[in-house]
Amino acid sequence: MSEAGTKEKDEAISFGCPHMVGEARQPAYDRLRKEAPVYKDPITGNYVLTRYKDVRSTLLNHRVFSNDAGMVGRRSPVQDQVEAIYRAKGPVPGRNLQTYDPPEHKAHRAPIDRAFDHWKLEQLRGFIKEQADRFIDAFIDQGEVEFVSAYAIPFPNLVFADQLGVAHEDYLLLKHWADIAVEEINPVLTPERELEIAHILAGMVEYFQRVIKATRANPDDRLLSHLIATVDPDETDEGLAELLIVIRAIVVAAGDTTTFGLGGGMRLLVENPHLVAEIRDDHDKLLAFVEETLRIVSPVQTLFRKAREDVEIGGVAIPKGSIIEARYGAGDLDPEAFPCPYAVDLTRENIKNHVGFGVGPHACPGMVLARTEMEITFKALVDRMDNFRAARGMDSYEYATSYIAHGPVKAYIAFDRR
Ligand code: HEM
Repeated sequence: MSEAGTKEKDEAISFGCPHMVGEARQPAYDRLRKEAPVYKDPITGNYVLTRYKDVRSTLLNHRVFSNDAGMVGRRSPVQDQVEAIYRAKGPVPGRNLQTYDPPEHKAHRAPIDRAFDHWKLEQLRGFIKEQADRFIDAFIDQGEVEFVSAYAIPFPNLVFADQLGVAHEDYLLLKHWADIAVEEINPVLTPERELEIAHILAGMVEYFQRVIKATRANPDDRLLSHLIATVDPDETDEGLAELLIVIRAIVVAAGDTTTFGLGGGMRLLVENPHLVAEIRDDHDKLLAFVEETLRIVSPVQTLFRKAREDVEIGGVAIPKGSIIEARYGAGDLDPEAFPCPYAVDLTRENIKNHVGFGVGPHACPGMVLARTEMEITFKALVDRMDNFRAARGMDSYEYATSYIAHGPVKAYIAFDRR
């Protein structure tokens, strides 16, 4: 076994550097995969995995690699005040779904899976298509659009708001809450900001208690009704607290992820003009384009696992207690798994084997919704428009500066109406 991180100090890569965000990550992944595929990051101390096979096998091995990595849900120095703020509005949030390991994880995850299974997403396609067209109608005559704010943010948030019983006019509240909940994970928050955040998220808890009450009185076929039926059918206090945790988990997880998938896919259409007619005319190719977008963009770049014991990955010794970053974004660009990884290849045999939604017990429960929204969007775009172009040359895109998420926060696109 060898020590990880054999790179020289003067050329050290760190994902903890402020500039190592957005597109700067990809060349770093390519270099690490060749030189130090299991790499001890000099700033964070985390072990970074960049090979597809290592990412996949680590995510699948929950016996050795725990999700309770201590990065989410830590105890705050103003915890008592934070809890008092929540208690004034409803239940105090408990542990996040993401932090449980099997078999405990299964008890919390199973009701969510059951709700998603009972939910008739196919019947929603008409509504999703209507919303896609409505947001496109608003800019199609202009010939140019900043696609993220005009479409990639409002469209998935409105669809999700509808399914969670949030009033349509409040749909951007979902994005606000998701942004705030992600900010709460930031390890360098000031206590003052933590208290502000607690007030905002307690407001979300209060809002959803009202919505849950109204939905119980009039259940329907939307996702919230199914979640109520599977998570809290007997209307207990514990059930309500769990339901609010579940709602918070899905609001956070569904937030920027789909937005970045849509924005990133728009850029791939600009850069691959030959694909526009192909995906317009061939439904299988449209679905393949969605998968290639998820693989190349990987809206969730990394999450964390903790080694429960001394372990070895790729010949590198990793001590018990270390944090491992399974970099989905790097694994999905590994040429060993996906030859010519930056090319959108609609004929790849293993096109659905990317790890963009994770694998194993924590794999994304929202993947069907996300895929459906992306499919309907790209079809509507290519049916109604053509000749997509970057409207501001090299300055057409601006990327998120998040450690975890990846995708454009601005995409200035020009196009012709068909
Ligand atoms: C393109 C869009 C999306 C991407 C790329 C994505 C990606 C992911 C990934 C990589 C994970 C795995 C985490 C792990 O390995 O620990 C995950 C988990 C999760 N996702 Fe998604 N997601 C997307 C959309 C959604 C949507 C729309 C929802 C809700 C409807 C959702 C809900 C969740 C939840 C609740 C989890 C946690 C599951 C658990 O820990 O058991 N996601 N997602």
